[in-house]
Amino acid sequence: MDKLVDFSSMSVEERRDWVSQSAGFTPEQQNLLRQEGGLSLETADSMIDNVIGTYALPIGVIRGMVVNGKEYLVPMVCEEPWVVSCAEKGAKLAAQCSGFHATYTGSIMISQIQITQVTSPHVACLKILEHKREILELANQADPVLISLGGGAFDVEAKPLDTEVGGMVITQLLVNTKDAMGANTVNTIAEKVAPLLAQITGGKAYLRILSNLAVHRLARVHVSVSEEVLGGSAVVEGILAAHAFAWNDPFRACTSNKGTMNGASPVACATGNDIRALEAGAHAYAARSGVYRPITCWERNYSGDLEGMIELPMAVGIVGGTTRTHPMAGLLLRMMHVESAAELGMVIAATGLAENLWTLRTLATGGLQAEFVPSLERRKET
Ligand code: MEV
Repeated sequence: MDKLVDFSSMSVEERRDWVSQSAGFTPEQQNLLRQEGGLSLETADSMIDNVIGTYALPIGVIRGMVVNGKEYLVPMVCEEPWVVSCAEKGAKLAAQCSGFHATYTGSIMISQIQITQVTSPHVACLKILEHKREILELANQADPVLISLGGGAFDVEAKPLDTEVGGMVITQLLVNTKDAMGANTVNTIAEKVAPLLAQITGGKAYLRILSNLAVHRLARVHVSVSEEVLGGSAVVEGILAAHAFAWNDPFRACTSNKGTMNGASPVACATGNDIRALEAGAHAYAARSGVYRPITCWERNYSGDLEGMIELPMAVGIVGGTTRTHPMAGLLLRMMHVESAAELGMVIAATGLAENLWTLRTLATGGLQAEFVPSLERRKET
């Protein structure tokens, strides 16, 4: 990684030129970057109901984010002053030690169909599995384009639930949504197969919707940072103590996860992805053991260096939805030069880990206010 130019001494226009050049933007794309807000009222009106205007937020960029050996420019849309700086500093530390190493389990979403009024839920589950092929065939009529791309529903699970209002059966279809986040497809599939499931079980279909707890769509990222790069043994100890605090206290785990998502969600937002889905998945995953825990983990290795990892559901896409309709989201996605939803997901998770790394380093060595407030004050004065 070359030494990064100092953004803080540059004007917004100079930063835009630098980013445009680095990202290889065409003159039209450069003009789009200059359009503050980047969203016409007409497009906004086509996106949601009852539109009365648009709402702009700052776009920041972090440089020097290295994931699986590739260097990324990562856009972040958020309002909190130190978030971009924390992620960039965390990325810089990681890049000094070979960067982030990431994997993705695949774009597998879960479609849930609830069947109630089932007298023998366990037997009903077996019957559903006996009809697996028929259910999948029907499900895969929902999105022929996805099938042509090699995606679609490929497995069926069924589980009985004993509830306050009686026995019910939950059928889960596993759907490979490829480069799309896939919510619409997965919901359409659920709606399509619900009558067949009701017929098979003799029950009544109610909810037909995706699950945001995307446990088959995980991004996993690992980073190793040497004690020297981090600033010494006491810094490593401070980060380990912070992690132990979060692991044992849900009040701290919640704040630590908020800080990690400070890195991940702004990238998801910049690229037109559904940040509420991402946040819901991350926090539910954090509580999967029955106790709410941090989504990152920090350990010391045999050499005394710090090892960090993150694992979280990553239901994001690079095609369709807001990515297509919001011109700025499309442009910022192009800036990243990612070729798949998997690649985007891994960079988003790595940004979360970078954010958490620098935040914990700061908290363990003095505090955010001490590190960032003086520069914020200076910025206000100029
Ligand atoms: C503030 O947005 C996020 C932090 O509270 C995260 C943390 O405490 O780890 C600083």
